[in-house]
Amino acid sequence: MTNQRDGTGMSRKLHVKSYGCQMNVYDSQRMADMLASEGFSETVEPQEADVLILNTCHIREKAVEKVYSELGRIRRLKSRAAREGRHVLVAVAGCVAQAEGEEIIRRAPTVDLVFGPQSYHRLPELIARASGGSKVVDTEFPVEDKFDHLAPASREATKARGANAFVTVQEGCDKFCTFCVVPYTRGAEMSRPVAKLIAEVERLADAGVREIRLIGQNVNAYHGEGPDGRTWSLARLLHRLADIPGVARLRYTTSHPRDMDDDLIAAHRDLAALMPQLPVQSGSDRILAAMNRRHTSADYRSVIDRLRAARPDIALTSDFIVGFPGETESDFADTLALVDAVGYAGAFSFKYSPRPGTPAADRADQVAEDAKADRLARLQQAIDRDAAAFNKTLLGRTIDVLFEKAGRRSGQLIGRSPYLQPVQVMAPTSFLGEIAPVRITALGTNSLFGMLAKAPHLHGIVPPTASAGL
Ligand code: 5AD
Ligand code: SF4
Repeated sequence: MTNQRDGTGMSRKLHVKSYGCQMNVYDSQRMADMLASEGFSETVEPQEADVLILNTCHIREKAVEKVYSELGRIRRLKSRAAREGRHVLVAVAGCVAQAEGEEIIRRAPTVDLVFGPQSYHRLPELIARASGGSKVVDTEFPVEDKFDHLAPASREATKARGANAFVTVQEGCDKFCTFCVVPYTRGAEMSRPVAKLIAEVERLADAGVREIRLIGQNVNAYHGEGPDGRTWSLARLLHRLADIPGVARLRYTTSHPRDMDDDLIAAHRDLAALMPQLPVQSGSDRILAAMNRRHTSADYRSVIDRLRAARPDIALTSDFIVGFPGETESDFADTLALVDAVGYAGAFSFKYSPRPGTPAADRADQVAEDAKADRLARLQQAIDRDAAAFNKTLLGRTIDVLFEKAGRRSGQLIGRSPYLQPVQVMAPTSFLGEIAPVRITALGTNSLFGMLAKAPHLHGIVPPTASAGL
């Protein structure tokens, strides 16, 4: 069945809803860019869409259940549209699609198309096939590199997306932590070539992007082919990208302690653009071994000590899992002790969620739900306490803020500190997309408040002369 609006000259509308990690946000944008060249325009309203894509996450059970309940809502939306004579094509993409494949169509027959993270460059063809009325499932790991087939974002689309952008530099993972589905859903570790990344970052910086976040499931395992034919490390790539005019901030996520080499630690000392923020996993030694993390708590502490020596103002964040199979109160006490010793600026913490097909899911010694909930609450309390203490150290200090969007109050903008906290500041809209020094005057629960600092070039609050203002 072809879309009613085909042939009428009206563009078809696309709505992509992203779940889970930053890579899904990046992938969703690339899908929209890919379909823009096919005449699709993006809409934020799902009920207006002719093609509706859910870009899903499989990392924890809750994330999967969210997708199925959303599909229930979409089934009703699709029937309403059908009553108006409009066909809505529903696609499920991402890691749930990869892991569940045809099962999705069995459980949610409203779905027309299922495709995995390695297939989205084939989207126009897949949509054409699914529009013909048959159900289409594509969860192959193709031999060709999808990045070679993707349409770049237009300058307008990039500008509309704001002052920071994600760039996937690496995908997949070979670490096989025993709790994690990533090696199965995203596949083997692969790094994109340096030249392609330089070109992508140059385009973004030229369109006004100031902060680049390099992303990958195990980003510091990056080992891409350099223009000199040699293999480049993440440290070398960061040095090269920091030289691109307009790039004021560089971040990278998510990394593994084992891949934190000396060069990368030195890059935190040498590159002003490299923002002091770094996520690292952790746990008790017995549990770390059972997780197949291949590092001890002491190894991890030593990485942190070296990072702090290289960059004293580094803000550390981490991910934690509580209630991994076999975790005792004493293991959990080790996690709390580690949190106390490190002093995080913030961290994500999750209850262990058994993922089908991963080794830990089959263990008989699963931790009871109420113990998991209790440990999660205690861990979050410890992390919140440290985050508040970290924020307190910023009070009265002047820090650089990258202004990202208008605030709720008129005349107010919201930006981000180098440590990723939102900062609310009274500032003219000409500051959007720019970095300016801000004095932190008050602390809120989830954000900081500040005033534009009177830096020499800002006397009388003259807006910065934007080379490529948004
Ligand atoms: N259960 C709970 N949390 C998980 N994570 C990954 N797999 C699981 C799981 N099975 C968490 C880890 C990882 C983050 C992205 O999600 O902490 O770093
Ligand atoms: Fe998953 Fe990260 Fe472990 Fe890879 S390193 S298996 S992505 S948790």
